[in-house]
Amino acid sequence: MKDVKVKNNVSMLAKIDWELRHFHGEELSTHKGSSYNAFLIQEEKTVLIDTVWKPFAKEFVDALSRKVDLSKIDFIVANHSEVDHSGSFPELMRHIPDTPIYCTASCERFMRAQYHQNWNFKTVRTGDKLPVGNGKELVFIEASMLHWPDTMFTYLTGDNILFSSDAFGQHFASEMVWADKVDYNVMITEAIKYYANIVGPFGPFVIKKIQELQALNVPVDIICPDHGVLWRENPLQIVETYAKWANQYKENRIAILYSTMWNGTHIMAENIAKGIQEADPTVDVQIINLAHNDKNDVITEVFRSKGILLGSATANNNMLGEAAAMLCEIKALKFRGKKAAAFGSYGWSGEAPKLLSEGLKDAGFEVVADPLRASWQPDEAACAQCREFGANFAKAFA
Ligand code: FEO
Repeated sequence: MKDVKVKNNVSMLAKIDWELRHFHGEELSTHKGSSYNAFLIQEEKTVLIDTVWKPFAKEFVDALSRKVDLSKIDFIVANHSEVDHSGSFPELMRHIPDTPIYCTASCERFMRAQYHQNWNFKTVRTGDKLPVGNGKELVFIEASMLHWPDTMFTYLTGDNILFSSDAFGQHFASEMVWADKVDYNVMITEAIKYYANIVGPFGPFVIKKIQELQALNVPVDIICPDHGVLWRENPLQIVETYAKWANQYKENRIAILYSTMWNGTHIMAENIAKGIQEADPTVDVQIINLAHNDKNDVITEVFRSKGILLGSATANNNMLGEAAAMLCEIKALKFRGKKAAAFGSYGWSGEAPKLLSEGLKDAGFEVVADPLRASWQPDEAACAQCREFGANFAKAFA
């Protein structure tokens, strides 16, 4: 368990999980591991903010009890009830069953439903304050849908620290603690993947919450998310970055995602890419075989792109499984402000491109071209048609 000073009487007790490769069951890939960050405030009052994931509960409570007499913890703040932050509560509360737990009403509901314990919950709302002594207090800020209904932020006055729960985090294991101490490109790659895959559908809530935070006009010296490294050098940089990501974010990129059977749809993808590049060499085109790429990395690529082309061969009058699964994912993630079109090669009936095109519309993409089909292996004429299709897609952004 990593125990480091954050500022003055605030410290972080974190499990740096270098081993983690999948999270949310098997739903989310975590190539760089993660961390579960809990925080301890030792002013006149001793306050614990959040805990760590259940597999590390014993290790966490042992480390916490070496740091502080557990019976001296005056209260606990639960910013969010998901098990990666609340999972140590059963182990901890065995020792201090009556200690008050401050959280939102939804958090109490979710904690009761997960742990079936009648702990001493105290529900709070935005603006509620709790003195911790030495002239400092905690201010609670509900942050519903960032990324769960129960989420809240907690702000510590005096030290000007924002404990932001999952927001502004990264699944990124590092012993370096601070964002300014790590390889920025590697860390921000994980931060954008985390945003695209976890926070993305809640963009309007992100914008509203950031506006609310800005209206409070309070100094923020440090932002402490519950995953990854902490922000202290220009800490609001990550808030500004979130504001950008939440506002229909796009780069000058086009992603061609495809699922191929006997290579025909792959040949189409390459020719479409050529057409895009011929029409606009500034576009960074990505050609992504859905069977060979990590689902969450593909989603991150969709998030970064201004447009996508989704292709599939037809089998059994339908699209292939990887294309269907990706369509399902991108619909759920509610991407907005992105253009799209569909394509695919076929041997017999060729329904996939039309189904993909309808699916893209249904998923909230602006479909800017009729679906393109090529029969069997694309010949020179079909390849030329693909290049023209790609060029026209590139021109749709002019
Ligand atoms: Fe890191 Fe929503 O839990």
